[in-house]
Amino acid sequence: MNAVEIEEAVSRLAEAPFDAAEFPYAFLEAFGNKETTLKRLRSGDSNLSDVSDAILQRNNIHLKVSPEGEVSATLAALRASPRTASAKAKFILSTDGKSFEAENLVDGGTVACAYPDFHDHFGFFLPLAGITTVRQISENAFDIKATGRLNRLYIELLKDNPEWATTARREDLNHFMARLIFCFFAEDTGIFHGQNLFTATIEQMSARDSSDTHLVLSELFRAMDTKLAEREAAKIKTWANGFPYVNGGLFTDRIDTPRFSKIARSYLLHVGNLDWTKINPDIFGSMIQAVAEDEERGALGMHYTSVPNILKVLNPLFLDELRDRLVEAGDNPRKLLNLRQRISRIRVFDPACGSGNFLVIAYKELRGIEAEINKRRDEADLHSGIPLTNFRGIELRHFSCEIARLALIIAEYQCDVLYRGQRLAIAEFLPLQKANWITCGNALRVDWLSVCPPTNKAVKLRADDLFETPLDQAEIDFKNEGGETYICGNPPYLGSTWQSKEQKAEIKSVVDGRTHAPGFLDYISGWFLKAADWIKQSPGAAAFVSTNSVCQGQSVPLLWPILLDDGIEIQFAHRSFKWSNLASHNAGVTVVIVGIALSSNKTKWLYEDAGAGGISKRSGNSITPYLTLGPTIIVTKTKKPLSELSEMEFGNKPSDGGNLLLARNDIPSLGLNLDQQTRFIRKIFGSDEFINGGEKYCIWILDEHLDEALNNPMLKERIEKVRQLRLASPDKGANALAKRAHQLKLMRIGRSHTIVIPAVSSERRQYLPAGIVSGKTTINNRNFGIYDGPLWNLAIIIARIHWVWIDAVCGKLETRFNYSNTLGWNTFPVPPLTEQNKADLARCAEDILLAREAHFPATIADLYDPETMPANLRAAHERNDETLERIYIGRRFKNDTERLEKLFALYTEMSARQSAPA
Ligand SMILES: C[S@@+](CC[C@H](N)C(=O)[O-])C[C@H]1O[C@@H](n2cnc3c(N)ncnc32)[C@H](O)[C@@H]1O
Repeated sequence: MNAVEIEEAVSRLAEAPFDAAEFPYAFLEAFGNKETTLKRLRSGDSNLSDVSDAILQRNNIHLKVSPEGEVSATLAALRASPRTASAKAKFILSTDGKSFEAENLVDGGTVACAYPDFHDHFGFFLPLAGITTVRQISENAFDIKATGRLNRLYIELLKDNPEWATTARREDLNHFMARLIFCFFAEDTGIFHGQNLFTATIEQMSARDSSDTHLVLSELFRAMDTKLAEREAAKIKTWANGFPYVNGGLFTDRIDTPRFSKIARSYLLHVGNLDWTKINPDIFGSMIQAVAEDEERGALGMHYTSVPNILKVLNPLFLDELRDRLVEAGDNPRKLLNLRQRISRIRVFDPACGSGNFLVIAYKELRGIEAEINKRRDEADLHSGIPLTNFRGIELRHFSCEIARLALIIAEYQCDVLYRGQRLAIAEFLPLQKANWITCGNALRVDWLSVCPPTNKAVKLRADDLFETPLDQAEIDFKNEGGETYICGNPPYLGSTWQSKEQKAEIKSVVDGRTHAPGFLDYISGWFLKAADWIKQSPGAAAFVSTNSVCQGQSVPLLWPILLDDGIEIQFAHRSFKWSNLASHNAGVTVVIVGIALSSNKTKWLYEDAGAGGISKRSGNSITPYLTLGPTIIVTKTKKPLSELSEMEFGNKPSDGGNLLLARNDIPSLGLNLDQQTRFIRKIFGSDEFINGGEKYCIWILDEHLDEALNNPMLKERIEKVRQLRLASPDKGANALAKRAHQLKLMRIGRSHTIVIPAVSSERRQYLPAGIVSGKTTINNRNFGIYDGPLWNLAIIIARIHWVWIDAVCGKLETRFNYSNTLGWNTFPVPPLTEQNKADLARCAEDILLAREAHFPATIADLYDPETMPANLRAAHERNDETLERIYIGRRFKNDTERLEKLFALYTEMSARQSAPA
């Protein structure tokens, strides 16, 4: 169940007559417990309670319906029950149908309310359904509630008006919903006079059978689009006359109003009767946008980008600096005035704004700083100088655009109430401004200069010829001449394999020939490139939440040289962290935040999650595209190892259509004697066999044994099949290989042993899953190999420091490690090693192999599961890391960031030395 579904179920339960016997089960059912679970509780099978008539569900809740008036005493008994602790109950709850009390035993939070109101606290109990909410949600149930109700209305209206479901009419429906939301908010916050004016008027003036609901609504909207002086001439009905002139584009276009069934009408009234003063425009906006997306409705109420995450972008981008200026200004009226003027000219531009949450939060934060200035200057009543039109957005989805605009209007009103009082807020709120500063369009096609023209100079606006972008946005009257612009947001990211043809074309057009392989760039690169191009035109900076892949592996040499050319640099960055939505069972994605600006000598800041919700912050002169402190560096592939390391090569690509490969039980059918088996059969490891176990064999015929092999009819047949296959290939190289159809494409093999490194492996392990196979055993091209290489090479490959390098430099294939010999091994910087160092490392590698052996037949996958890695193996790795890291810096590194920074410094030094003329 998603949060909206749970809210609805809880509300239904609270509205129904109280049934003491059924309540505990109905309550658990509302939080997603299945009938079978409830059955077992009812029968007592799974009820662990030691309190009479109570129900205790392991790891969840201990609850009891109490006799009337004994709710608190019952709650105390549940708290004191030994079983509450031993069954690890997270909640205790008691109610008598009149009052309701509950406690979260994990964080100590409590709820005490009248029984009919307990549904308002459903967010408090969401952990019962496995949903861990951020505080904003559990304390503001309204946004989920309103989303659920509006969702029902939206779906019902689509049912009643199927023609509105077409793409052509969807925008009208979206706009209609935006009007409704505005009216609900306005009637509850005093913007409309009287109590509940909008909902009450619909209820009174429209027929109960709903036949004319649309006509009543149309008349109300017409009134809100007509100035008071013009109402008589427009023959506005008297019952609509009490509504103010709202306009501002919201009611301007005469779109018709959808027809309502009786159910839809009752939903409408139901939504209207919610208390819309409780709306949080950023939370509500994020949630409600899913209503208009058919495929997203299933996750309704689950999408929410938390304010702390948004502030991770906005604070370092510009808010921190403004707050510093505020502190600096103290009570100096002139300095405060200057700061206020500066703030009023700051523009915030989110070119993938969704429902506008970044813009709303930026607006609220700026209003907070302005209010503090006004307070210090004794001008608390002053009208805000921060125009909403300074908060620009581009968004692909029409409904989200509508909501973004509305969210900003609501945020403006709420800030006015907060800082200037309701009387002034209401007096100045209407009519709304006409300008539309949220552009509905494709940000990679729209010319950003037209949406957000530079402020310091006249720039000839140009449409992008390729896409013929309309330029009407530029006609908006801007009030921030000479101000700064901050571009921000969390644009969409999409790996190159997942992009549509159109998206690939968009990226290519933005790249405009500046990199040779735009097809490999993530979709979000387009936003970075356009932002960099923009800030070269005008004062400002940009910061985006991004997939961490843009700062790893192949993306770095493709993307960052373009960005860093022309004087752009990374101003601040937040290293990888989990960006999760509302629900904890949504594992979230790993993201980074990268802030870019024109080069300057400003201090650069690198942020990192420091556990327990803390953030650490370090400074330096520059940040690398891999998000470490240090001079800019871009690691590129090389053919030979930079350090004194053995050569690493690909395993053997079969190119055989499977004819040279064998399962164990295929071997007897070949009819080879034992001596021939030893000569013609080799064990071959793919990465899967190497990591997860399993056996595969291949036919291995040296040229000098070919005649003998051809005497065997089974081998002969297989060889012939390979020959035909290679000849039939359109690839000339494969045709040439037909001459030696008895062999794999490559025939690399270690005489004594091979060090094996799977090319792709899980990112969950703390070490790369490399190892060793014996002589006469071969590997396929899903692995890299060092054939007969000294064992100290293995010690390096399976050290943590190498993992860190591969993570940064090779990047990932989807989420898995994607090893590369040319990019990861040949570039890996190792200090000069003495013979003693090599011997020590070889010893460490042997110890690790022995530690693995001790758990035979456990596979690499079993041994390196981070949750269950055996202690002896972990200890052997620790010794290996200790030995190697001492060679680097004389001690263990403190963390992976320190490892990476050392590696980059060493790489810079070594590659400079290598390319210096002799
Ligand atoms: C990750 S969401 C971020 C929205 C919002 N900040 C939030 O946290 O909910 C990315 C947004 O980009 C929009 N989007 C996707 N492709 C786009 C494009 N080419 N141009 C403009 N917006 C786009 C999506 O519709 C979505 O609203």
